[in-house]
Amino acid sequence: MGLILKSPLRLAWTFAILAAAALACAQSSYAASSSTPPMGWNSWNHFAAKIDDATIRAQADAMVASGLRDVGYRYINIDDTWEGQRDAQGVIHPNAKFPDMKALADYVHSKGLKLGIYSSPGAKTCAGYEGSLGHEAQDAQTYAAWGVDYLKYDLCSLGPSMQAAGDLEKAQALEIAAYQKMNIALRATGRPIVYSLCQYGFYQPWRWGRSVGGALWRTTGDINDKFARMIQIGTSQAGLSKFQEPGSWNDPDMLEIGNGGMNATEYRTHMSLWAILAAPLLAGNDLTTMTPETTAILSNKGVIAIDQDAAGKQGDRLRQEGPLETWVKPLADGSKAVGLFNLSDLPANMSLRTSDLGFKGASIMQDVWANKALGRISAYRAVVPAHGVLLLRVSKPAP
Ligand code: GLA
Repeated sequence: MGLILKSPLRLAWTFAILAAAALACAQSSYAASSSTPPMGWNSWNHFAAKIDDATIRAQADAMVASGLRDVGYRYINIDDTWEGQRDAQGVIHPNAKFPDMKALADYVHSKGLKLGIYSSPGAKTCAGYEGSLGHEAQDAQTYAAWGVDYLKYDLCSLGPSMQAAGDLEKAQALEIAAYQKMNIALRATGRPIVYSLCQYGFYQPWRWGRSVGGALWRTTGDINDKFARMIQIGTSQAGLSKFQEPGSWNDPDMLEIGNGGMNATEYRTHMSLWAILAAPLLAGNDLTTMTPETTAILSNKGVIAIDQDAAGKQGDRLRQEGPLETWVKPLADGSKAVGLFNLSDLPANMSLRTSDLGFKGASIMQDVWANKALGRISAYRAVVPAHGVLLLRVSKPAP
């Protein structure tokens, strides 16, 4: 961003002061947190600007028909390009693609689902549509009146104003204030609206996102449907678990499963890594044309149980040997989810000992994707395919 870091110490103080101030005004905003990572669907990764009322209704229908709703997917999130003009009173209206947003919300709710919408703290969204700058309270009221349950608030055109602020501290203060403004506006509506911050990881949101009412915050730039990018984003989460608290979530961006740019092995790796990260699971494919294989990957109950585990703890990297990585997530019943990821282009032998997890002796191990009990063992070794994962659930040994 070309901003000048004046002094790390001063920056740390600014962080602390801003976070404390934000926390003081936002104490009542914790209703925005969600007890497990949000699950649902978002229009951007597959459809980008090609969305309208009929597309969203069809996705809601498919969410139910495919069984995804019944394994936990709830939110149907409209991303950028729904926005129309403001009227003389400044009230935002959807564009012609969305003739009646309230009716659409009613339809989505009638399916047992929830509706999400998108805006920006800047004057314009990333696709150049109307943002919320100067209209935060009004927009929050409009969303609540429509029956919106989730807002993704995307930095977009606020970025250049932040750069223009001149230095890192000022830029960061501007960003935090902008997110806090919408947080206050959302709380004032009285409607529980999950608040999703999208600012590509700028200025370590894992340190302050919660203090501005965020239930989740993006930690990276945009994902795409390529193995290399997905892995770059997923593995860049290493070290973030210590900042995560149950009820609010680091968001490494939405899923690409089923969009066609990766094979099934790679999509299982994507789903497994996101589950170990306790990441929001927002499908980003066309639910109306899913293959049975895509449906099976998105709806694997063992993997979803890891993501949605009641302890609400993000996992982290345990060890790395070049392209072979072991990631571990602690679970509520004392067991651990373990992903042995082979990121190389050739199959590899990978192994796990219960002692790697701090367990003494043998544990009951389960291969999650194969849904297969491996027995009570103290070590397991298997060939993991290129770009693949062996996802294990390892029970705490009985005392
Ligand atoms: C940014 C976000 C994406 C998407 C687009 C929409 O790039 O990071 O997830 O919302 O904007 O314009």
